[in-house]
Amino acid sequence: MKNFHLHLLIVYILISATTFTITEHQTLFSNLSETEDVQPIISQDYQSTAESYNLLVFETIQQDEFDELLLVNTMNPIRVDINSMDMLAITSDMSIRSKSEEYVNPACLNSLEQLFIDAKNLGYDDLIINSAYRDYHSQEALYNNRLAANLKLYDYETALAHTDQYVAMAGYSEHQLGLAVDISSTDLYRSYNRLEDIPSFQWLYENCYKYGLLLRYPKGKENITSIAYEPWHFRYLGQPTAEYIYMQNLCYEEYVNRLKDEEIITFIDENNESYTMYYIDHLDSYDFFEMGVNINNAINISKLDSSSYVIVVWNHYTN
Ligand code: DAL
Ligand code: ZN
Repeated sequence: MKNFHLHLLIVYILISATTFTITEHQTLFSNLSETEDVQPIISQDYQSTAESYNLLVFETIQQDEFDELLLVNTMNPIRVDINSMDMLAITSDMSIRSKSEEYVNPACLNSLEQLFIDAKNLGYDDLIINSAYRDYHSQEALYNNRLAANLKLYDYETALAHTDQYVAMAGYSEHQLGLAVDISSTDLYRSYNRLEDIPSFQWLYENCYKYGLLLRYPKGKENITSIAYEPWHFRYLGQPTAEYIYMQNLCYEEYVNRLKDEEIITFIDENNESYTMYYIDHLDSYDFFEMGVNINNAINISKLDSSSYVIVVWNHYTN
């Protein structure tokens, strides 16, 4: 993250230094664009500014290692290195509780802490985190244990299908990113039965987007997510992505597909903040300068899948 900020600073200095050139270019270009002998000099100016800018954005994107928006599902295994040392412990204090020693990504932890504080202030003090970060081996053990249990009840094919509906194979679980948590309630003795009937969960479903969290496997989207309805599994995506997806009633796969189709999505959130989400495929062939991607205001740059990225830019406060 330090590198990321350093690059933003360099980009900012470069942009400030070239603002005069660009403004001058745009004014001259609009007045004199038909004058053949002036145009080549101006184009050169523009080109070198655009090239430097594109290079800096390219490097910034490549160096940013926090893949907060990475799509992980049965079709998209985790292809980035996850360092368990980057995870932070969820403390068993008054505001946030977990069953045992659980860890999550730091950004996810910040958001959970705020959520648990607000929930508690509203009287919802029964929320509890059952499971958070899982390394490859714990995910593998979980899958194998569930399969073994299902094999006692069903034939092999059915047992496999039941297992796959609820537990991702090792290498395919968001829990391995440290960006997913399974939440339950002490009022339900940490079980997942009838979570929807619990007042704290009704509040959670309506408000989790404010903390950048998304109910990842919603009812009715099973064919798209390839996972059964899981009223307990929340994915951290940060703002404004979680809010956009919630407001549009999408699941994450649908959001990614829409972003791929539209390439640019502009969104005004409930606080009248405006954001633009850019889908970036084939990183090195983009003209970020031409597209007007203001990297200074990028609030999230993330790998989306194996070959594409997303840049979320804060535009301004509308009003
Ligand atoms: N329960 C979800 C699909 C997982 O295992 O990651
Ligand atoms: Zn889960």
